[in-house]
Amino acid sequence: MTPTDAGALHGSEAVAVEAERRWAIVVIAIISLLIATMVFTSLHWASMPPSRVETVDPRNLHVSGEFVESNLGTMLDADGKVVVRLIAQRYAFEPQCLVVPAGVPVTFRATSTDAVHGFVVDRTNANVMLIPGFIATFTATFDKSGERLMPCHEYCGTGHQAMWGRVQVIAADEFRAKAKDGARVSCVPR
Ligand code: CUA
Repeated sequence: MTPTDAGALHGSEAVAVEAERRWAIVVIAIISLLIATMVFTSLHWASMPPSRVETVDPRNLHVSGEFVESNLGTMLDADGKVVVRLIAQRYAFEPQCLVVPAGVPVTFRATSTDAVHGFVVDRTNANVMLIPGFIATFTATFDKSGERLMPCHEYCGTGHQAMWGRVQVIAADEFRAKAKDGARVSCVPR
């Protein structure tokens, strides 16, 4: 091997090392980007309510839109679906007493005016967080008539333990009679 050959060999080794270093940087950059994307999306989703399809301005719930007082309670909508609208605020649900038909899917639409509240109806899969600014929507079917409790299960302040309501499950025919002509049904004493 002549000295010039050895020099050329050293030169190509340097080129190879340089190329490997560049690729290592590219690979590290790709992996870092993937990890950053994973961390960002999981934190972003974890900090959002599960069904964040609809938003609402919590400051004017009482003034306009579907959560005005006269629109709260249970109703039969135009295509025969049973819809319950309620709001949670420190430290009560409004209405405090819901009426729903037995054996019929009931769609709940609910939100909060102030803090994060929890909504659960015992012995059902109705269990959701009510978050200001978001409308929680879910559907539940109550198979038997009777009374259920509806406590707030998310610590929302000093009055949290006193925040609960009731759900009266009644026969579907009885419900239809009460809800005719677009009436909003509830069992809040007047
Ligand atoms: Cu509302 Cu706890």
